[in-house]
Amino acid sequence: MQNIKKVAVIGTGVIGAGWIIRCLAHNKIVYAFDKDINLKKKLLSEIKRTWPFVKKLFNKKKLNLKNFHFFTSIEQTLKDADFIQECATENYSLKTKLISTIGKYAKSNSIIASSSSGLLPTRIYSKCKNPERGIIGHPFNPVYLLPAVEIVPGERTSKKNLNLAKKFYKSILMNPIMVKNELPGYLSDRLQEALWREGLHIINEGYATTEELDRAIEDGPGLRWSLMGTFLTFHLAGGKTGMKHMLKQFGPALKLPWTKLKAPKLSKKLSSRLILGTARQAKGKSVAMISNIRDQYLVDIQKLRKKYEKKLR
Ligand SMILES: NC(=O)c1ccc[n+]([C@@H]2O[C@H](COP(=O)([O-])OP(=O)(O)OC[C@H]3O[C@@H](n4cnc5c(N)ncnc54)[C@H](O)[C@@H]3O)[C@@H](O)[C@H]2O)c1
Repeated sequence: MQNIKKVAVIGTGVIGAGWIIRCLAHNKIVYAFDKDINLKKKLLSEIKRTWPFVKKLFNKKKLNLKNFHFFTSIEQTLKDADFIQECATENYSLKTKLISTIGKYAKSNSIIASSSSGLLPTRIYSKCKNPERGIIGHPFNPVYLLPAVEIVPGERTSKKNLNLAKKFYKSILMNPIMVKNELPGYLSDRLQEALWREGLHIINEGYATTEELDRAIEDGPGLRWSLMGTFLTFHLAGGKTGMKHMLKQFGPALKLPWTKLKAPKLSKKLSSRLILGTARQAKGKSVAMISNIRDQYLVDIQKLRKKYEKKLR
């Protein structure tokens, strides 16, 4: 398979829609399917909402909607596709069953990628025909703007297909992260989950509100994280001798109770603190209104980041 051009997206919720928009922006032919066959109208309005941001980030002129096909049959959706991005609900038995159906109808040399956030590929491809073509291609929301995608192999995935997937994601201007072996939660979500769980403990025990904890990230580590990750950041925190001094100074803190990691029980009280807390933070703005602000920010910050990345990498 040379350049992959025809992409099927199965499941067109938040993430499926994101893949569709990104693929259309990079001139792929997109076949879409969802078990909810009424989603086409919603998808078209999401494409319309996001296009101004996508256009600006990738310096595109025109959106070619002729390349977008929404089908009501999964068989028809998969028939011609070279690359299939599965984006259905996160659940082992649902995905295993759906992927087995995809394997049955897809071309035998097509690549099947699951958007799963943390499920093990060996398990979800266990009933799939030709499992050597099965990978995880885990993106980040909003997929149409963020470049990261984690490629995770299952026990039976072939090297050749991993490389083809990498090439495909690069063709839609993503930066694939090749995960060596499967592990629950992969890389990024394990890091995010650690932060999330710690935050839940802090809120559960009443030390801070959702807004205060968000500010603790937004105004500090978050500003640095959009340019460099935890390890390089901590290297700088060590002064002239970098990580060496950092470990000497902060190494002993690893023995202090600075983190709990195991999640607290999601009680009614904790859930309502989270729901009311974030509703207060939204200040009456809808999710779509906040998404527009976030999308504009992500376009601007990525344009700015390019300038500084060149100096760093
Ligand atoms: N939301 C995120 O931030 C995020 C980020 C990265 C990865 N993911 C992963 O992407 C996947 C989709 O998540 P989402 O947030 O888009 O969920 P979502 O609930 O917005 O969308 C899921 C869609 O899948 C459809 N669906 C369910 N079963 C189906 C089936 N058998 N056949 C066809 N369509 C089916 C549903 O109708 C729905 O439209 C999950 O695996 C999730 O873990 C989510």
